[in-house]
Amino acid sequence: MAGRNLENLTKRYGGIGSESTVIKRRPGPGGGPNRGFATGKPKNTRNVVRRLLTYIGMFWKRIVAALLFMLVSTAASLGGSYLLRPIVNHIADASTPAGERIDYLGTMALLLGAVYLAGVVGTYFQHRMMITVSQSAIERIRNDLFSKLQSLPIRFFDNEATGEIMSRFTNDVDNIGTMLDSSITSLVSGVITLVMTLALMIYTNPILALITVLFLPVFALLGNGLMKRSRKYYVSQQAALGAVNGYIEENVSGQKVVKVFNHEAVCESEFALLNDDLRGKQQRAQFFGGIMGPIMGNLSQVSYSLTAGIGGALCALGRFDVGGLAIFVNYSRQFSRPISELSQQMSTIFAALAGAERVFTIMDLDPEAPDAADAKAPDPLLGHVVLEDVTFGYVPEKTVLKHISLYARPGQKIAFVGSTGAGKTTITNLLNRFYDIDSGRITIDGVDIMNIPRDVLRSNIAMVLQDTHLFTGTIMENIRYGRLDATDEEVIQAAKTASAHSFIKRLSNGYDTMIEGDGANLSQGQRQLLNIARAALSHAPILVLDEATSSVDTRTERLIEKGMDHLMQNRTTFVIAHRLSTVRNANAIMVLENGEIIERGDHDDLLAMKGRYYQLYTGMSELT
Ligand SMILES: Nc1ncnc2c1ncn2[C@@H]1O[C@H](COP(=O)(O)OP(=O)(O)O)[C@@H](O)[C@H]1O
Ligand SMILES: [Mg+2]
Repeated sequence: MAGRNLENLTKRYGGIGSESTVIKRRPGPGGGPNRGFATGKPKNTRNVVRRLLTYIGMFWKRIVAALLFMLVSTAASLGGSYLLRPIVNHIADASTPAGERIDYLGTMALLLGAVYLAGVVGTYFQHRMMITVSQSAIERIRNDLFSKLQSLPIRFFDNEATGEIMSRFTNDVDNIGTMLDSSITSLVSGVITLVMTLALMIYTNPILALITVLFLPVFALLGNGLMKRSRKYYVSQQAALGAVNGYIEENVSGQKVVKVFNHEAVCESEFALLNDDLRGKQQRAQFFGGIMGPIMGNLSQVSYSLTAGIGGALCALGRFDVGGLAIFVNYSRQFSRPISELSQQMSTIFAALAGAERVFTIMDLDPEAPDAADAKAPDPLLGHVVLEDVTFGYVPEKTVLKHISLYARPGQKIAFVGSTGAGKTTITNLLNRFYDIDSGRITIDGVDIMNIPRDVLRSNIAMVLQDTHLFTGTIMENIRYGRLDATDEEVIQAAKTASAHSFIKRLSNGYDTMIEGDGANLSQGQRQLLNIARAALSHAPILVLDEATSSVDTRTERLIEKGMDHLMQNRTTFVIAHRLSTVRNANAIMVLENGEIIERGDHDDLLAMKGRYYQLYTGMSELT
């Protein structure tokens, strides 16, 4: 880890310009290099906006209602201030008796109250409607994204860091929500206010209106320049933020390893480096973001003073009324307000659009290729599995499995042995079509698995994966994941088969014990037993056990084997094991090396061959 400088660290954790060959840390969540979705500004803003509109488009009735309420509230606010004109003029008119002026004031105060009340009601409903619209849109986006995730091929999950995917749901969707909630409202109400104010200003005094309008391009140019600047800094701030988050995530989930190797100090200094970088970028981004309001504000003061001065002169010349001037300066203030407000919303809008683009990038990914229209499997499947000359690579440049052929009958136990990375797990990935093969053919009961609907295929293969995974829920629920309609008795029976029953009984709540955080409160071996119980519960004719008992002691392993024996009777079982003693009784053992089956036969054949298996076996018997 030493020698990692800032550039290097940002690249790794910030997700921009990542290296070409990346191996994702597994398992567990993490920041990690983010390929595929770049951080920062949206590349195709128009498209992103169009798609966001389709999400809120279906609520158009509410939106129209919200717009009407918005009009009411804006009109009330502007109308209210317009009323000041006759009020001021009337009160300033010394020719009217004082009592009459006071009466007039009272009436007008009531009228003003009514107008402002209408404004409050309008604002209230406008907000309610918009919030409903935006939150419903967000709900749909989240649902769509989640459904998309369910449809994506395993390849996607193998390649993307969990933390990256998570942040699509959290940061990105949240940012979209904030934009829809507040920015859109200020955008629209800003425009309405702008137009209405302008109309009133022209109506009140065209000359003064012209002066105010002349300042518009100055506002626009300056605002635009500042915006571009701040947007640039904003993008770099986000990348730095991503790097810091990724680093923290990795550090927290890997805290044990950090401690074991005494890496605390290194981590602290690396973090300090990233953190300092973030500070610098955030400082610039926040400064430019924050300075916009005040600059615009000061600029509007200039236009304000100018209007007041010229307006005052017009009054003195008797060409304008005092009431008119009073409301006009008020309007000219309001005129710039929506502009500076909008510029302040810009960072939210950028963040949201960039987030939306990343969300849509996922939504546009190709799902698992749909099942062939005529895909159909014999029901029930018996479990004759044939691999014919199967060749496969995760990436085109690297073939992982080469010309694999084998035949497995129901009731048979086929074992794969071989060194780590030989391709054992890959074979199981191909069986249930996590990945599709490059050439050759895999058939079950004579049907090419490409012609078997995926759900049928997968419900016919019970797998105990090499990476155990438990869901939040009780032990009972976790085992029942294997077959949802299983009764409690069946679940307990499966647990007994998997030798999990005795340890479950010893837990304080037995089968009702809650499993949290992927089973952090269980030992690795216990987690494996629960995964085996899941598979034991399933009625699938094909059973795959990938190093299912690697963390279980040999005695328990024997017990499981015994328990599973009658389960395996009519099923086709594929076993991957690193303890060769557990595969000794297999009908056929395939020795894999570099993706090729280099030896095959039963235990005695292979020993007699005195080849790789013999070496492995004798080497290993020395160990035990
Ligand atoms: N998701 C993946 N993407 C790319 N390469 C992979 C992936 N999974 C495994 N590999 C590569 O395929 C080879 C075989 O892996 P695997 O089948 O998991 O081996 P094992 O025999 O230990 O189970 C290894 O070289 C590994 O690096
Ligand atoms: Mg493996």
